[in-house]
Amino acid sequence: MAMPPGFLDELRNRTSIAQVVGRKVIWDNRKSNQAKGDMWAPCPFHQEKTASFHVEDRKGYYYCFGCHAKGDMFKFVQETENVGFMEAVELLAREAGMTMPARDPKAQEKADRNTELAKVTEAAVSWFRLQLKTGAASEAREYLQRRGMDEVTLERFEIGFAPDSWQGLWDALIGKGFKDKDLLETGLAKPSQKGGKPYDTFRGRIIFPIRDPRGRCVGFGGRAMDPNDNAKYLNSPETVLFDKGRSLYHHGPAREAAGKGAPLIVAEGYMDVIALVKAGFGAAVAPLGTAVTEDQLRLMWRITDEPIITLDGDKAGQRAAMRLIDLALPMLEGGKGLRFVVMPEGMDPDDLIKAQGASAMQALLDRAEPMVNLLWRRETEGQVFDSPERKAALDGRLRQAIGRITDPSLKRHYGDAIADLRRALFRPAWKPRGNGPGRGQWKGRGFAEAQAPLATTRVKATALNGETLRTGLIVASCIRFPDLIDDFEDQLDRLNPRNADHAELATFILRTTTRDPGALLDEINASACAPALERLLSLSHLAITPFLIGDGDPIRAAECLAEEFAKQAAARAIEDEMAEAAQDLGEITNDEDATLAYRLNEAVRGKHAALRPKGEDDAEQFGETADARAEFHRLLSTAGQGKKSRK
Ligand code: UTP
Ligand code: MN
Repeated sequence: MAMPPGFLDELRNRTSIAQVVGRKVIWDNRKSNQAKGDMWAPCPFHQEKTASFHVEDRKGYYYCFGCHAKGDMFKFVQETENVGFMEAVELLAREAGMTMPARDPKAQEKADRNTELAKVTEAAVSWFRLQLKTGAASEAREYLQRRGMDEVTLERFEIGFAPDSWQGLWDALIGKGFKDKDLLETGLAKPSQKGGKPYDTFRGRIIFPIRDPRGRCVGFGGRAMDPNDNAKYLNSPETVLFDKGRSLYHHGPAREAAGKGAPLIVAEGYMDVIALVKAGFGAAVAPLGTAVTEDQLRLMWRITDEPIITLDGDKAGQRAAMRLIDLALPMLEGGKGLRFVVMPEGMDPDDLIKAQGASAMQALLDRAEPMVNLLWRRETEGQVFDSPERKAALDGRLRQAIGRITDPSLKRHYGDAIADLRRALFRPAWKPRGNGPGRGQWKGRGFAEAQAPLATTRVKATALNGETLRTGLIVASCIRFPDLIDDFEDQLDRLNPRNADHAELATFILRTTTRDPGALLDEINASACAPALERLLSLSHLAITPFLIGDGDPIRAAECLAEEFAKQAAARAIEDEMAEAAQDLGEITNDEDATLAYRLNEAVRGKHAALRPKGEDDAEQFGETADARAEFHRLLSTAGQGKKSRK
């Protein structure tokens, strides 16, 4: 819907963001200045005791100095109510007493028609529910009881019963004054072929009302109680109200639960959703008798970044997963993904919870696997890659899969992850150096184990640590010896740490003119960067750096900085090369295969060499060097001491 010009501005003028936010937080009255509209509270988006959440009522913005959440009143309502932008606007407009702008006449007509039809479905919900309480429903009640549904659950899911008669619902609703046409259009009744009265669609079934996220009943699912019925489940047909491919069972309540932190779980059927909710997994949804569609994926991603898909442990479940992966790959973008839980053979979530309880389900959820693992397994499981031809064929399939990802950065990361898994598979005798516990077991990994994401996490984690250690050391050294900022201004400017805290602090020290260490610490502590500094200094498992202790040693610090800047630049260059090589997986032709492997190998070797301090030979492969780590440890605790001693 297009908003007329000025509508949002008018809404902003009429609404105080402090008032909107005030419903969700408790203001810190000492820190806040009501008259100025300068308000502070503990942040509603992360756990904290102090008030680092700031609202500037006059500007209409909020910002959290702790978790960096920020936005205007619409964003706030979106985040706290877990709704979309238009819904946030609608909510706020209603409160401000503004009528939402009229839609175009066609849309308005359709909306009015839908409202009419929703009255019919609503009346049907009531009638079905009433029927469940009658004598004719005794068998249905027994059935539901056998399936473990208590009163609370029946209420919550508004479960009803359609008696086994041809015109029960029809007569009841016509008797209430609803029109033939409306009943037919909701799909609750079907016209008779023999010229008689239309007949009820649902007969002799348990009824599950399906509501859209706004709470309107758009359709029904009906389960036969007779195990021999040829349609175990019957759903409402597609109607103007009910677009199956764009609907999810239990959408609204699941969205609300997800907004409060529950993981979004996608199950196959009504009974699974109900069992999950009953077991405490409030954010459960299901598609409606069809495979998950693109639209449904989008709906899920609007609720959460990583929905968890539960899959039957059988072949059909696997096939469904593979179709879903193919559907999702081109749609992936920043932060959006899927996780998969494979259920034990022959069980759905309902069966599992009944047999083994909620904790068994939780255990499975905890082990939910990212999509890349399933993709890998699809292409490798049960196969033997003992010839160049087979390896090449595998590369072809992987290349094709990765090629379908449209988001460039994600494509690169998938390339990375797949390249790692592939390396582990094709070099089963790979033996890392170092002699820590458990290292030996990396020897001779067959591909049954190669599917495990270990290789991926290992390289990723250490690469990240390496960078974080370096940028942290650099930033902390500059804070300890601010004179060094001038000497390394250019390098500092180009550093671009990936770690948000280090990036923030680097920017801060580049801007400040303070060169007295104590004054600089005070300045940072009084600024928005204070939490970033606190986090940098709170890495308490880190030890002591001699050149920073006590009076410190600025010469040694300068040497160390020069070395760390060089390492960082080298690491970045090599990472880029690795990423590029990995991405080439999506482009290589078969005989370039060897070249790619060579490039990846070289890149890894290069990185290893660049990060190895002079004179130290037996650093762990991929690992950060003991030397650099120790230095960082030392440094941070000293910086912490410096801070404390000033208090
Ligand atoms: P299942 O056959 O796995 O049923 O179908 P279920 O959910 O485990 O049901 P119970 O436990 O036997 O009662 C999963 C979903 O597929 C759709 C329904 O939406 C069902 O919930 N379905 C299944 C149909 O639409 N028609 C059918 O005939 C069967
Ligand atoms: Mn079931």
